[in-house]
Amino acid sequence: MNNMTTDKQDKYASLHAEIMAVIAGETSRTARFATAACLLSEAFSPRFYWTGFYEVDPNKPDELVIGPYQGTLGCLRIAFGRGVCGISAKNEKTQIVADVHAFAGHIACDPASRSEIVVPVHGQSGKLVAVLDIDSTQLNAFDRVDQDGLEQICHDLLRV
Ligand code: SME
Repeated sequence: MNNMTTDKQDKYASLHAEIMAVIAGETSRTARFATAACLLSEAFSPRFYWTGFYEVDPNKPDELVIGPYQGTLGCLRIAFGRGVCGISAKNEKTQIVADVHAFAGHIACDPASRSEIVVPVHGQSGKLVAVLDIDSTQLNAFDRVDQDGLEQICHDLLRV
């Protein structure tokens, strides 16, 4: 493993601890998502250009609606199965797209976005409640270390 990989792993480990410390005991989902969006965005700026959550709409369970985010204006709603977020929500699996322009069905909220990672977020009961969407203006900005670090944060975000 090279130094950059371990630096990034260390950064995710301290971010995980920081986010969990700030949200400990907090019962508001919005407060938890807003905290994670802010701290992730700050920690990985400028690589993370847009960082935020799309939540499953309780009134339309096959649709995502925008939640807390940091970045330029995001699309308000995304149907399950549409775009990278909708595919991640439908499959409940992390998606990494190295070049969004080469990805059929990508929803271009902001043409500056070139690559993205989307990670599902489950609630206490194990049900999908949201996806974390992170976009970068750099091509191929996300790797396995980002996936592992973000999955660990998303795993604990509504549980601890
Ligand atoms: N890129 C996403 C849409 C959301 S925004 O980029 C904020 C997608 O294709 O799912």
